[in-house]
Amino acid sequence: MVEIITAETAGFCFGVKKAVDEAFRLAEEKKELYTYGPVIHNDEVMRRLTEKGVKLVESEEELAALSGGTVLLRSHGVPKRVITLLDEKGIDYVDVCCPFVKRIHGIVDRESGEKQIVIIGNPKHPEVEGIMGWCRTPAEVLSTEEEASEYTPKDDRAICVVAQTTFNHNLFKKILEIFEKKSYDVTVVDTICNATFRHQSEAREIAGRVDAMIVIGDTKSSNSRKLYEICRKECDRTEFIQTVSGLTLVQDGSIHTVGITAGASTPNYIIEEVQKHVRREF
Ligand code: F3S
Repeated sequence: MVEIITAETAGFCFGVKKAVDEAFRLAEEKKELYTYGPVIHNDEVMRRLTEKGVKLVESEEELAALSGGTVLLRSHGVPKRVITLLDEKGIDYVDVCCPFVKRIHGIVDRESGEKQIVIIGNPKHPEVEGIMGWCRTPAEVLSTEEEASEYTPKDDRAICVVAQTTFNHNLFKKILEIFEKKSYDVTVVDTICNATFRHQSEAREIAGRVDAMIVIGDTKSSNSRKLYEICRKECDRTEFIQTVSGLTLVQDGSIHTVGITAGASTPNYIIEEVQKHVRREF
């Protein structure tokens, strides 16, 4: 029988669990509940919330047009102007932004008056868009070593570096080394979430000792995609699936151990389904 090694860190992190629990609680309690952007990057969870009558609001224009109800502000955080808009319009809202992301908002809000903020992250990710929205002066966003090498500050202000919470730890270190070599006046606040770090190192460790590895997560979830990249480097037979139906891995007699991990926005029941399937079919 195949041995299954499931990562202890697989699935919801603290911030996502808090946001999802609150979303389901409010869905029962409130008559008219909206979420501004998906609460988390997982289609399954969003489908279940929609079934409970929760409506998705996708733009600031739509938000401004609301005349009632309660708005849930997502775990990745929103720009400051969104909160100002809701306050001005008198619209009820519940902010389920993860406290670790909130901490970054506080840092950039404080530092961006005097310093140039550099965010190491994906500029299109809602979390980064949210962080940019708390900077008093425009922030720079860098996501690769090349971009860091090419970067030159626009003025002689000191630099304050923060990171998207789910950014790859090793790449972050490499980017900081590039900055060090350039001898900029830099303050670094390592805002990569510990949950992500533990998640990534456990995935790497398991992928390094199994015959096949399964990473479960939504294709839109950046931390899930990163887990996949990390595992793929350690194990050729790594598959990235959203649910059990996406699994193409088959037992050909050479698989004795299977590792399983899942992105921070993957619900537990999806992980259990995959475990059951592997136990049955392998
Ligand atoms: Fe928060 Fe870390 Fe999760 S920042 S949302 S606990 S990955």
